[in-house]
Amino acid sequence: MIVTLDGPAGSGKSTASKLLAERLRCLYLDTGAMYRAVALQVKRQGVEPKDGEKLKELCRNLDLRFKEMGREMKVFIGEEDVSSAIRSPEMDLLSSRISAIQEVREAMTRLQRKIAVDKNVVAEGRDMGSVVFPGAEFKFFVTASPEARVERRYKERIKRGETVLREDVEKELLRRDAQDKARSIAPLIPAPDAEIIDTTFLDPAGVVGTILEAMKAKGGWSP
Ligand code: DC
Repeated sequence: MIVTLDGPAGSGKSTASKLLAERLRCLYLDTGAMYRAVALQVKRQGVEPKDGEKLKELCRNLDLRFKEMGREMKVFIGEEDVSSAIRSPEMDLLSSRISAIQEVREAMTRLQRKIAVDKNVVAEGRDMGSVVFPGAEFKFFVTASPEARVERRYKERIKRGETVLREDVEKELLRRDAQDKARSIAPLIPAPDAEIIDTTFLDPAGVVGTILEAMKAKGGWSP
């Protein structure tokens, strides 16, 4: 059984996906983290972000692992925990850039499907319901007003100890949204059969509650 949550940055889909996976006792698949790990290697190896062939090779050699540690899902490249390194503002933008490259998308799509084989999964990203898991039993598109999304991202970064201006957070977030929506392959759009959840006035528990209600209305989760 697969539940997909797609949506733009700051929509609250990550927090909701994690909580939902905990509630349903299934695997939480953070596909944004996968694109971020590729971006980190692109930077470290000095690969040109538009060079499809080099990116293909990089993805082939990428030893990407998810490890559950307590309530956290950590991201590793080989033996190195890169969970924090992939969350920088630079990786926000670079992951969005390289995610528009066909070779990267093909490699990640393949890996995402492989990870999900024979498992119950909550998969979050941009193209989970539209491209990677078109046959998923439950599909949601999680969104919120641009103001609410900027506010959430701003607070998150302040909490992390960064010194940042709200207007810079806004500029970066809107730029990334535009990039993710405009790309020709697997752009950020709701799958035709996805239910839209507007989280502008909902807290994480409210988002999960709304999703669980919608799932119940569709016959419930019975893996
Ligand atoms: O969800 P996130 O902010 O961690 O994702 C980082 C970038 O990765 C995002 O800007 C676009 C890309 N991405 C994607 O293209 N497809 C996905 N399924 C997940 C993320």
